[in-house]
Amino acid sequence: MDHFLYRDGALYAEDVPVAEIAAAVGSPCYIYSTATLLRHFRLFDEALEGTEHLVCYAMKAASNQAILKTLADAGAGMDVVSQGEYLRAKAAGVPGDKIVFSGVGKTEEEIRTALSGGIRQFNVESEPEMVEINRVAQELGKTAPITIRVNPDVDAKTHAKIATGKSENKFGIPISRAKEVYALAASLPALDVVGIDCHIGSQLTELEPFALAYQKVAELTESLRAEGHNIRRLDLGGGLGIPYTRSNDAPPLPVEYGQLIKDTLGHLGCEIEIEPGRLIAGNAGIMLSKVIYVKSGEDRDFLIIDGAMNDLIRPAMYEAHHDIVPVVEATPGVEPRPYDIVGPVCESGDTFAKGRNMPPLDAGDLIAFRSAGAYGAVMASEYNSRPLIPEVLVNGDQFAVIRKRPSFDEMINRDTMPEWL
Ligand code: LLP
Repeated sequence: MDHFLYRDGALYAEDVPVAEIAAAVGSPCYIYSTATLLRHFRLFDEALEGTEHLVCYAMKAASNQAILKTLADAGAGMDVVSQGEYLRAKAAGVPGDKIVFSGVGKTEEEIRTALSGGIRQFNVESEPEMVEINRVAQELGKTAPITIRVNPDVDAKTHAKIATGKSENKFGIPISRAKEVYALAASLPALDVVGIDCHIGSQLTELEPFALAYQKVAELTESLRAEGHNIRRLDLGGGLGIPYTRSNDAPPLPVEYGQLIKDTLGHLGCEIEIEPGRLIAGNAGIMLSKVIYVKSGEDRDFLIIDGAMNDLIRPAMYEAHHDIVPVVEATPGVEPRPYDIVGPVCESGDTFAKGRNMPPLDAGDLIAFRSAGAYGAVMASEYNSRPLIPEVLVNGDQFAVIRKRPSFDEMINRDTMPEWL
């Protein structure tokens, strides 16, 4: 459920007509709904009620400061994967003890920054990284809390580019080697081994892969405890998928996912952490765009719009589907027609949809890409020297620009000229 609905034939973001936002900030732009962000965070929080837990929003999904603060104020922790994300989380007011640091290649500088500023735990992905965290912690006279990310070798049944839990993937350590790696961790004096971490992929639409992975985590917890490790925290990663179309079978609900966690791991008495990103932000955001031209091709019509692959790369990168809806609701009885919806970038890959049925549209009409809140703005680039598009946050009947559109001068003046030119 989200808060982008039609009222009297016009698309609204909560209580604000999106056309009003377009008039104020121009197009294209991203628009987020506070109510949807909070609703999705709370669904996870409530799904784990009765179990000691922390929902650490995977901020890679959408990391605008205003989004982070909205979630942090509601009690969310953060899952970060870089120094930039760590500093963003801190800047949004998230205390260090609610930040978990994931990612396969944490640098010395990143480890130092997190240890100095405070960290709930590092999710360690390899032995050399573990040794490095121990070294830096020793140097700073600190103890680093860690979990070790295990790769359970399960098929997440998702797009190959976002599956992480098979043994061929670069993530984590093979679960079969966990015992020796935990033994190494226990021997390193500046580490406090608090638990186990596991994340198998993103946009999972079934519970079964989670169930298989969590059963393995449960078995591992017992066997590590038998070896004397004080396993007291389980970080279960993110990955629960969202409905990208309204017609599709919907993925499992957070409450069902929470129940699975309780069923598979509840008996261990561990504190549970989860790292959802997409489910919190995905359907809390749309990308608004405007038709520049309607072009008649030989056998099809193209809607050429002012948004492009640099603004929303998911269709080009993952063949991802986004529902695209007109901002003025289709009049009942008017026949829809198929369009190829494309951006102006000079690549055939800059195609958002082929043969998509839309009401007849003209130049100047606004359209909205649904489910664009996660992995939308954060994956944007300035390819073709198109400045990053603005982000807007709606809250009830108010809206605010939370990242402004840079001017062309600002974009150009980031470059610097060597003295010989
Ligand atoms: N935790 C870890 C360690 C992760 O690597 C990820 C996502 C998450 C949590 C959050 O997963 P989520 O709940 O959002 O599924 N750009 C791709 C998605 C990449 C996901 C990477 N890792 C896309 O647009 O589909």
